[in-house]
Amino acid sequence: MGTRSDQDLFNAITGGGPAVGKSALMPPWRGVIDDELAWALVRHLRKLSRTEGGAGGVVPAAAKEAAPAAQPQAAPQQPAQPQPAAPPAPAVAPGPMDVVAPPPPAKVKRNFPEGKLREFEIRVEEREIEVAPGFRAKVWAFNGQVSGPLIHVRQGDEVKVRFVNLSSMEHTIHWHGMHQQGTWQSDGVPGVTQQPVPPGGSFLYHFIATRPGTLWYHCHVNVAEHIAIRGMWGPLIVDPLEPTPLEKEVTKDAILMFSGWNSQLADRFGVGGHPTELRDYFSINGKSFPLTQPLRVREGDVVRLRLIGAGANAAFHLHGHDVLVTHKDGLPLESPYWADVVRLEEGERIDVIVRMDNPGIWMTHDHVDGHVTNSGKDMGGSMLIFEYEGIEKPDWYVWKDKPYDPNFYYSESLKAGYGLFEHPGFQGAEPGTAR
Ligand code: CU
Ligand code: CU
Ligand code: CU
Repeated sequence: MGTRSDQDLFNAITGGGPAVGKSALMPPWRGVIDDELAWALVRHLRKLSRTEGGAGGVVPAAAKEAAPAAQPQAAPQQPAQPQPAAPPAPAVAPGPMDVVAPPPPAKVKRNFPEGKLREFEIRVEEREIEVAPGFRAKVWAFNGQVSGPLIHVRQGDEVKVRFVNLSSMEHTIHWHGMHQQGTWQSDGVPGVTQQPVPPGGSFLYHFIATRPGTLWYHCHVNVAEHIAIRGMWGPLIVDPLEPTPLEKEVTKDAILMFSGWNSQLADRFGVGGHPTELRDYFSINGKSFPLTQPLRVREGDVVRLRLIGAGANAAFHLHGHDVLVTHKDGLPLESPYWADVVRLEEGERIDVIVRMDNPGIWMTHDHVDGHVTNSGKDMGGSMLIFEYEGIEKPDWYVWKDKPYDPNFYYSESLKAGYGLFEHPGFQGAEPGTAR
């Protein structure tokens, strides 16, 4: 089909098989559908096969409006054709508008007979979020939110994600930590495994979730802007086929994604990314203290914290407890170790498990000192408070009357089984509409 002209295709549809030297079993549709619909079919077939018309490709007037003056008019000395006259123009815009990555090979699938098909859609939308009191940032938000929606699957599941770019710039999604066995074309790296997805375009990622653990996804276009200051990250949790005994004890699961922001560049898209730029706000799940949320626990809880360096490093510290470091980059450590400060680098994931055995109200913060201010104003940044149930809070308590969001650390979503989980609390506003 790739070498056929659009006119040939049109003739085949309207005139049937004999019109193009093929079997009469292919019926003529002239009289059944009108010419406009036939041309729409031509365009649809081109899109499905991702081919372009050969020489002489033509499209009807409707398509001409979309691509004015794309090609010169047909030569006037050409003899009149019996077919409807239409100005020449490419039937399908060249480039990576709607790309489908190859499916995973059967031999990889066969290794996971219990794997289920999980299909999701992720859109990039231009939004604005309030990171800290008085500080708003323009973001490219996955499904309108920062942090992005939770994607939760089981090891061996077949994952299909339709990625739709509704923003004004190019993006991709990289599935950080996923091995992409037999599906390197779904790795999401522009210029290496795919062309970036243009505004209005889409890309279907398709892979087997072979690698378990705390993973994450992020855009891989100009990461010094898109990850570092535009919020293009979200958690990808892949439950292992065989959890460790300690993992099975967990009563509360939480995700903390650490990031930074640059207030000088926050109000416009397409700027940022120079290594000399300083970041002056720091956040967990897109919010700086005091806009973060308490992590409420009960005595006896076994809490798993999945710490993700989504664009910023951190030195995580929980008062009143030691934590057991159990996983590095999603993989269980052979020898878990105890710590009270846990170092986290950009891109890195560290899972810790904490036994809640010391009732109280406990400060929890990034121990990189510059990360616990809001542009120099103490206390702010990547900070939260563990609140045990049943502890009375004094009147002067900083979060005495704070409205509570139990899903701020994805704990509710993580309990809800497998799927893609959006969270209204992370939704951004249309840029410029906020006060
Ligand atoms: Cu991007
Ligand atoms: Cu990465
Ligand atoms: Cu401290």
